[in-house]
Amino acid sequence: MLLLSPQPMSISLNAQPEFQFNIERTTVVSKKAEPFVKWAGGKQALISQLVPHFPKSYTRYFEPFIGGGAVFFATRHSKAVISDQNEWLIDTYEAVRDNWQAVAAKLDTLPNTKTDYLRIRAILPKSLDLVDRAAHFVYLNKTCFRGLFRVNRQGQYNVPYGAYDRRYYDPANLAAASAALKGATVLRGDYEAAVVGVNEGDFAYFDPPYYKLGGYSDFNRYTAGQFRERDQVRLAALCNELTERGVKWALSNSDTPFIRALYKRYRMVTVNARREINLKSQERDVAELLVLNY
Ligand SMILES: C[S@@+](CC[C@H](N)C(=O)[O-])C[C@H]1O[C@@H](n2cnc3c(N)ncnc32)[C@H](O)[C@@H]1O
Repeated sequence: MLLLSPQPMSISLNAQPEFQFNIERTTVVSKKAEPFVKWAGGKQALISQLVPHFPKSYTRYFEPFIGGGAVFFATRHSKAVISDQNEWLIDTYEAVRDNWQAVAAKLDTLPNTKTDYLRIRAILPKSLDLVDRAAHFVYLNKTCFRGLFRVNRQGQYNVPYGAYDRRYYDPANLAAASAALKGATVLRGDYEAAVVGVNEGDFAYFDPPYYKLGGYSDFNRYTAGQFRERDQVRLAALCNELTERGVKWALSNSDTPFIRALYKRYRMVTVNARREINLKSQERDVAELLVLNY
C-alpha cells in the first residue's frame, strides 16, 4: 500500500500498455463509486458508523463540505447537492463527471518521478484546461507525501513528493464516480451558499474542517484560507437556523468541549476515528462526534 522509497521511482503502475486502458475505458461498469482522491478527514472508514444514523428517507441530500466524497458516494441519493470551497477539487469533480476517460488518458501520460512531480506541482492549475487540471489534481494527490492536499497562502500546492508506487486511478471506479456525479448538482464556495435552497424534508450532512484538538494542525489547510473558530460558530448558527426551518441535518466534528458547547441542545453520538493523515502517531486515534438535530 504505502511504499516509501529513498530513491525516486521512474516506473508507475499506470505506465501499462495503452490497449489495456482503452479496453478498460470502454467497459461498462456497474460498480459502486468510492472516493478517487485521498482526503484529510475522509470518511470512508467511518461510513458504517455514520450512515445508519441518517434519516431513513428525505427529499434531497446536501453535502456542503464534500472533500473526497465518501459519504456522498456511499449514500447515492438520486437528488444530491454537493459543494466545497476547494475550487481545484470541484473542477476535478466536474471534469470526471463530464469526461472521466479524458482525465484518465491524461493521467496515463504523467510519470511518477520526483523530477516530474516537482515540475507538475509548479504548474498553476488555472493555466490548464479543465481535463488537465483534474488530471494534475489526481496525480498530485496520489504521488505527494501522504496524499495531503495543502496549499500556501497564494494557493500553491506545497506538499513534498511521496515516492509511492501505486495506481493513480481505478478505471471502473472513475467510471462509477462519473455516473454518480452526473446525477448531482455540483457547487463551489462557502458552505452557507451551498444550503441556500434547502427546504423542509431535505437532509444535510456537514463535515467541516475539525475544530483543533490543540496545538498546530494542518487539517484545516484544504484551501488557501483557514477554517477558524468564527467559522465553526457561524456554522452552528446556520445549523440552528436550519433546525428552525424544519431541515434535518447531521454534523461531524471533533469531540472537544468547544464543539460540545456549541451544539449542546442537540443529540450527539460518539464515533471512533482513526486519522491516518497525521504526522504525530499519538494523535491518530481521536474521538469524533456526530451531532444530530432529529
Ligand atoms: C473534513 S473535510 C470533508 C471530508 C469529506 N467528508 C470526505 O469524506 O472526504 C472538510 C472540507 O471542507 C472544505 N472547506 C473548508 N472551508 C470551507 C468553507 N468555508 N465552505 C465550504 N467548504 C469548506 C475543505 O476544502 C474540505 O474539503
